[in-house]
Amino acid sequence: MPISFVGNKLIIPTSSPWVQFEKWAQIYGPIFTLWIGRRPTIIISDPNVAVDLLENGSTKYSSRPRFVVMGELYWDNAGILVQPYGKEWQVRRRMLHQALNRSALRLYKPIQEAEATRLCEALLDEPSYYEGIVDRFTARSFFVETVPWLKHFPNFLAPWKAEIQRRGREEASANMELLLRVQNELRDAKSPSDIPESLTKLLIQAREADQTTFGGLSDRDFSFVPASLFGAGSDTTASTLCSAILMLVTNPRVQAIAHAELDHIIGAERMPTFEDEPDLPYLKALCYETLRIRPVAVLGGTPHANSVADTYEGYFIPKGTTILSNSWAINLNSKYYPTPNHFNPEWFLSVDHKTLSYLPEPSTEELTEISPPRMHPAKEGHSSFGWGRRICPGAGLAHNSLFIALARLLWAFEIKPVREADGSERKYDTFAYTQGFNIRPRPFECEIDVRVEGRRQVLKAEMKNAESVMSRFAPFQD
Ligand code: HEM
Repeated sequence: MPISFVGNKLIIPTSSPWVQFEKWAQIYGPIFTLWIGRRPTIIISDPNVAVDLLENGSTKYSSRPRFVVMGELYWDNAGILVQPYGKEWQVRRRMLHQALNRSALRLYKPIQEAEATRLCEALLDEPSYYEGIVDRFTARSFFVETVPWLKHFPNFLAPWKAEIQRRGREEASANMELLLRVQNELRDAKSPSDIPESLTKLLIQAREADQTTFGGLSDRDFSFVPASLFGAGSDTTASTLCSAILMLVTNPRVQAIAHAELDHIIGAERMPTFEDEPDLPYLKALCYETLRIRPVAVLGGTPHANSVADTYEGYFIPKGTTILSNSWAINLNSKYYPTPNHFNPEWFLSVDHKTLSYLPEPSTEELTEISPPRMHPAKEGHSSFGWGRRICPGAGLAHNSLFIALARLLWAFEIKPVREADGSERKYDTFAYTQGFNIRPRPFECEIDVRVEGRRQVLKAEMKNAESVMSRFAPFQD
């Protein structure tokens, strides 16, 4: 028996379907079915249901539906994102763990700090070009060595099969080119430590260190692993940063508190570093709140599918059902966040806000808005990184990028609405987002001004350190 609702393709809006799904959830409940042709698709709108199915039931619900275009034609099912649950997926996932675990993440921090400084320096010169600068920041800080590959990055909307296959082949050869380059560098180096840390380097080392587990992957299949990370990690992080900028422009109170925290803890003489992270709880909370209020992978990223038939709350779910967790509905669910459209980092503060002297006492009106969220079953308090065994393996790396970029950006700059011709501040539509699997704010103008002139000098001086870190990455000399 299908769950609650029978729909069809024609009534699914092409624009922001997640908003319509959220409305349907209010009528049909936290889990309902849409029939697209003869294929059932289940939409989840409540984190408790996501936990029941995708976490507690993760042995059944961790596969992917068949992706004919992107999976089979384009990537020949070699990309981890689209792989069905099973051995092939497991090997890649284990390998990713080697490059994305806690100790690996530590190795990327110097380059992330350096790139965050470069981000700020670029903003000094071209503040109106912030979106492109943010895109460059995430592309470089994760995938420093993939520059030649980036040139081949596909237009995912290529409409014809032959074209898709041609581009797929082109990408496959670019992936191999990257792999061979890093492999050669490692072979020619006196010591591996002479080669800068990068995702590809760590993946190659993991593969060499454990031939029993990873030896079965051909060079070609292996070369897709770092490449699929680029697709999954770069745009998602950049889009989240664009959302943060939009939220900061429209929430001056939040920005003022973040500035106060940075002034109190860091001061004017140096830029924040990762070591300051434990002392900057408001900034950390700001990153979490951005992820909550504007989930990039708005319909849960890549859909899940169940590899065996199942029954949930009396409803039959046939094998191979497509399952989308609507992060929009889950994160903005007023059952958990009483005023879900209020951008409020205080929900995510890891310390009692009374201990933070720089946090202003909220007004009575604000007190209602920042009343604590009700118990949210997701560990992170949101659904933006997905669920269960397919949960985003890059969440830690993404958090680090968001933290260091926003800490340095806010240390150096004030982000303000533009002034209209009549002198008034521009009003922004915080719901004006692009369409697609991954969303980001539609381009908007804002002013990004140095907060105090002295910080420009500090930033320029820090840029010298950053250059020496980045000089190890030869392809970056542009
Ligand atoms: C703010 C940034 C990011 C967001 C919002 C995000 C979100 C997501 C989501 C929602 C999924 C699907 C999870 C599921 O199926 O339940 C996913 C999967 C994935 N993400 Fe991320 N991600 C981000 C950054 C990254 C980074 C930095 C990397 C790696 C460098 C990465 C690598 C991956 C991979 C490889 C998968 C596929 C996992 C699998 O299918 O087993 N992501 N991500």
